[in-house]
Amino acid sequence: MATIHVSRSAAWCADVGDAAGSDPGDVSLKDERKGERGPHGGDVSLKDARNGERGPHGAARSFFAMMAAAVALSLAACGGDKAGVKADTKPEPSDGVKASINAKFVDPNLDVQTWTKRFEREHREVFKHRSAIVTTLGLREGSVVADIGAGTGAFTAELAQRVGAQGRVFALEISPKFVEHLEARVASEGLTQVTVKLSEPDDVTLAASSVDVAFLCDTYHHLEHPPLILATIFAALKPGGRLVIVDFHRIPGKTRQWLLEHVRAGQEVFAKEITDAGFERLPDPPHDFLVENYLMVFKRP
Ligand SMILES: C[S@@+](CC[C@H](N)C(=O)[O-])C[C@H]1O[C@@H](n2cnc3c(N)ncnc32)[C@H](O)[C@@H]1O
Repeated sequence: MATIHVSRSAAWCADVGDAAGSDPGDVSLKDERKGERGPHGGDVSLKDARNGERGPHGAARSFFAMMAAAVALSLAACGGDKAGVKADTKPEPSDGVKASINAKFVDPNLDVQTWTKRFEREHREVFKHRSAIVTTLGLREGSVVADIGAGTGAFTAELAQRVGAQGRVFALEISPKFVEHLEARVASEGLTQVTVKLSEPDDVTLAASSVDVAFLCDTYHHLEHPPLILATIFAALKPGGRLVIVDFHRIPGKTRQWLLEHVRAGQEVFAKEITDAGFERLPDPPHDFLVENYLMVFKRP
């Protein structure tokens, strides 16, 4: 049986300031084999879309099939497994970003060397100031920190050093190639206190109440399902644990165009999403070394 498949095709990521261009991530309808899923497992498959059936009532059937698909597609976009939409599919995120923003990262052919050069260069503000950023996390020997969207590991060694041999760093990624790279990197650098984990776009996959600090650098604007993943971060933090977000300022009229297009919303929108998820905002720690990025801290009450 044919399906309608909402595909997310190749996209771009301009997090490191190298990007002209626009996001070609599209939503297109195409036939797809039943059961096939995209790299995120988050594609919306709707059964019997275009129907290949022909016969005396073929035109009417086509019409009703298309109508049914359209209704189901709207329900899926609203976020539910309602009205017969396949229960094992996830909706196209309506409150986060299109999954296409992460398409490059989850691509099995990702060229890690290229991204290492982009993420780990001294004129990238957050990399240049990684040590000062990590200081704002207030880690102690023995702390447990989750680096959510660890990328190539720009912060891994710094975090590992701060928590010491008795602490734990969870380096979480949705990109299998970055996970592979991170595993090789922590092994070669002897960072035994680092656990690399392939996590889900909507789930950090960490044990409840196990983490002191959750850290996202240039990752929040990549989240495809903010409310869902925030709930899992909340659960993974110990009561009193902190969530630290570093992300790009996005100020219309001031921020350059590529960033305005790439980052879906500004600091206060993100802050509200996080407080809506039950976190309490804490005063910003000093971070005047950052110009292009802000840094904000929340607490799990
Ligand atoms: C712009 S990169 C930042 C990498 C790193 N934090 C840094 O600053 O160098 C964003 C990363 O977030 C990852 N990512 C996106 N959504 C994620 C999620 N829900 N959970 C874990 N990682 C995610 C992407 O695969 C990508 O590697």
